This record gives sequence, C-alpha cells and structure tokens, in this order.
Amino acid sequence: MTIEIEKLHPLYAARIHGVDIRKPMDAASLAQIKAVAAEYVVCVIGHDTPPTNDEHIAFSAKFGPLQRGKAPKIAGTEMRIAHPEILDQSNLDEVGEIYSDDDRRLAYKRANRLWHTDMSFYDVRATYSLLAAHLVPPAGADTEFTDMRAAWDALPDARKAEIAHLEVEHSYWYSRVLGGGPQPTDEERITRPPARHAIVHLHAPSNRKALYLASHAQNIVGWPEEKGRALIDELIAFATQPRFVYAHQWRLGDILIWDNLATMHRATPFDDRTFRRDMRRTTCREREIIDA
Ligand code: OGA
Ligand code: MN
Repeated sequence: MTIEIEKLHPLYAARIHGVDIRKPMDAASLAQIKAVAAEYVVCVIGHDTPPTNDEHIAFSAKFGPLQRGKAPKIAGTEMRIAHPEILDQSNLDEVGEIYSDDDRRLAYKRANRLWHTDMSFYDVRATYSLLAAHLVPPAGADTEFTDMRAAWDALPDARKAEIAHLEVEHSYWYSRVLGGGPQPTDEERITRPPARHAIVHLHAPSNRKALYLASHAQNIVGWPEEKGRALIDELIAFATQPRFVYAHQWRLGDILIWDNLATMHRATPFDDRTFRRDMRRTTCREREIIDA
C-alpha cells in the first residue's frame, strides 16, 4: 500500500490517500497511519461506500481499547445500531426516522454543537474517535476542529505559568444542559459522575503540550464557580480562534480519526428536522474499561 498525505490545514489535519479500511492492512501501513495520526491529530480516510459497522469496529480496535456499552442511556429510548462499540450520532430513531420533536435525544445531540472533546467526563479518557459518514445532508453539516497543542503554544508565557497547575472538573450533564437539553433524571445523572483532569498535559504521540478543555468543563477545582467559568470560557474562545480551526466537509464514506487528547471539535447546525444525517462513531479509551 502506498500512502499519500494531503495537508488540510497549515497547522494539522490530513487526508490519507491510498488506504481502504475495509481491506486487510499490513503492519507497515498501519504504522504509517498511526504516525500520521500522531502528528496531524485529525485524519480523513475516504471510501466510495461507507465501511460496514463490523469493518469500522475492526479498524478502530487497532487504535486502542474500544468503548463498549449503551452509553448514553436516555430514559425510554431504544438503540438503532445494535453494536455496543458504535455510538449512533445520527438524527434518526430506532426505525430510521428523523427524531420526533419531543425526542430527548435530539436536544442532547445538539450539545455536540458546543466545542468539546469526547468523554472528558470520564476518569479514563477517550484517545481516538473514529466517525464514519453513512448519510450526509444535501447542504452538508461540517464538523469543526481545533488543535489544542497549537492553542497552548500560542498562549503568552505568563498565562501558561498562571494556569499550568490547574485541574478542571468535567461533567457530561453540564454540557447537555448548556446545549439546551433537559435536566437529567436522577437515574440518568448517576450513570455519569464528573471527572477531574489537568488543564494542560503532554500529548505523548507528538511529544507536545496540549490544553485539555471541553464544553463538559464545569469548573476549576478549588476556584469559585464564576471565576472558574470565566477562565474556561476565555481559554475555549482563545483555542477556537479561526486560525486554529479546520472545518471538515463530509463526503459519504469518509472516516475521520481525531485525537481527543490534542483537539476539540463541534458539530455545526443543519436542518435536522428535514434531512437525515447518519454518522456513527467508535471511541478508543486510555485503557480497557470493563463494564462501563
Ligand atoms: C462526535 C461529534 C460531531 C458531528 O461524533 O463525537 O461530536 O458533526 N460529532 O457529528
Ligand atoms: Mn464529539
């Protein structure tokens, strides 16, 4: 396999040509893809037809232990995709129809429009997410990214010194409500308690420091709420300046790999009451999680 790289942004993000995840892959090719992912942190691999769920899962498993489970379990809803490794990111219900207006999942999905990184609300964080495009609405519906290594590098040294020691508390429900979703039921809330993470960490694959923030970030540990909120808002605004942002225009069959420990991303609005958008995600974790 001959792999070619097309840069998509001056700072990061690449399309990888010459790869088909549906076909057997030799160790050298896989090592090359991993090296590209380590450096570029957002990588796209295109296909003429979307990979099947099984092909998607098999490829994803090469990047680390996969998240398995019915998360998030929203009370009273069933699953459209039965594979426990796949998170359904579509606007479709269990029979493939666009969500009804009162479907609680719709409001929660819209929280993806806030800048975030996946699963920062867990102690064992997400490393790579792999999102596959099975149906793209006619007017598109980009996913936007930002490079949190570039953002950290660009911060003034004095600011870096002030914040480097801080810890942030992340909560899934915080971002759902922030995104306009309903307050969770008690049963839902206990499925996802908050987690604490350093505000900056070493991104091991590229050996660069990266800010670690998300819409899930609800406060700075040990700070009054308002002061913490102001710092989180300031840093998210800084990190998402246009110069750091890559907007991915989806093509059917794309599979996008991003590193949650070095990026943030967000969905952009589209007419989700009229058009179907079928996106499916697998997620790798920092280590294997049993029963979560
Ligand atoms: C995700 C996500 C954004 C989108 O799958 O984690 O945030 O555009 N998706 O669907
Ligand atoms: Mn996401």
